Amino acid sequence: MKATAKAHTNIALIKYWGKRDESLILPMNNSLSLTLDGFHTTTTVEFQEGLEKDTFSLNSVGAEGVELERVSVFLDLIRSQYDIGPIHAQVQSTNTVPTAAGFASSASGFAALAAAATRALGLELDDTELSRLTRQGSGSACRSVYGGFVEWQMGERADGMDSYAVQVAPANYWDVRMAGVVLSDKMKKVSSREGMKRTVDTSPFYNAWVDSIAPDLAGIKDGIREQNFEKVGEIAEANCLKMHATTLGAVPPFTYWLDSTMAVMQTVRSMRDAGVPAYFTIDAGPNVKVLYLPENEEAVHTTLRNIPGVADVILSRTGQGITYL
Ligand code: ADP
Ligand code: DP6
Ligand code: CO
Repeated sequence: MKATAKAHTNIALIKYWGKRDESLILPMNNSLSLTLDGFHTTTTVEFQEGLEKDTFSLNSVGAEGVELERVSVFLDLIRSQYDIGPIHAQVQSTNTVPTAAGFASSASGFAALAAAATRALGLELDDTELSRLTRQGSGSACRSVYGGFVEWQMGERADGMDSYAVQVAPANYWDVRMAGVVLSDKMKKVSSREGMKRTVDTSPFYNAWVDSIAPDLAGIKDGIREQNFEKVGEIAEANCLKMHATTLGAVPPFTYWLDSTMAVMQTVRSMRDAGVPAYFTIDAGPNVKVLYLPENEEAVHTTLRNIPGVADVILSRTGQGITYL
C-alpha cells in the first residue's frame, strides 16, 4: 500500500486562468504548457490501517492547515471515486521547486500525489484517467502527467469527463530551454486559486481574455509544429501579458509583479533588440521564466544573473511525464 512517484512542473505558454466549475476544476479556456526537467516533486504515499487521519509532510516539515486540508480533500476524492473505504495515508513530499511562489509547485505536487496515491492503492489508471483525476487537485497539474508540450483540453461536459490533458509533442521533439529567474521564494499573498476567482468574478477585462485564447492557441500549435521559435515566443509572451492585465481590472485590483519582475521583462526585450531571441512568461507570482534556444544559453544565463534583484537563475530543459520510483 505504498508507492513513490516523481512529477515535473510545467509552465504554461498559453495560460489557464479562470474556472467555470470550481469544485470539479473545469477551466474557462484551453491551455498549453512545457514540462520542465529542472523542477520536480517526489511524493511517497503509504496507506495504513489504523491511521485516524491523513498526514502530510512537505520538505520534511509536517504540514497543517490549508496545505494538509488540500491533500486530504484530494485523497477523499480518490477514496470515494474508487470505493476505497476509510483508510488513511501518510504523505511525504519533496519539492525542488519553490512552493507557492509561481513556479507551479501545485502542478508537480498534485501530479506526483495523484500518481503515488493511485499506485499505492493498486489502481491502474491510464494517462487520460490520471490526468482527469489530477486536474481535481490543481488544474495546472493535469498537464504534468505528460512530458514535452502539453495541451489541457477544457472539454464541454458539466461532469468534466472530457477535461484532461493530451501531449502535443514529446520532450525530445525540440530542444528549447527555459530559465527560471528566482526573485523571491516567498509564498505569494494571493494564491492562483483565489487570484483567478477574483478575476473571473470582477475584472471587466476577463471576457476579452477568454476571447483571445483561440487564435493564440492555434498560432502557438503551428509554431510548435514548424519549430518556429519566434512565433512560439511572441505568442507566449503576449498571452502572459494579457493574463496579468486581467488582474489589474479586478476588484480589489492586484498584481503578482515586483519591481524586479519588470526589470527582468525589460532585460529580455533588450536581449532581443541585441539579436538574442528570448521571451518571458510569468505565472501567478513574481518570478519570471525565460524561453531560449540552446545556442544562446550562456548569453541568456549571464545576462539574467546580472540583473539587480535576481537571487538565482535555474536552467531547465524539456522534461518527461510522471515516473514511478
Ligand atoms: P504555485 O505557483 O507554486 O503552483 P499555488 O498557489 O498554485 O502556487 O499552489 C501552492 C499550493 O500547492 C501550496 O500552498 C500547497 O497547498 C500545494 N502544494 C505545493 N507543493 C505540493 C506538494 N509537493 N504536494 C502537495 N501539495 C503541494
Ligand atoms: C497562472 O493550477 O495553480 O499558473 O487549479 O486553483 O490549483 P488551481 O490553480 P493552478 O493555476 C495555475 C495558473 C497559472 C497558469 C497556468 O499554469 O496555466
Ligand atoms: Co499552482
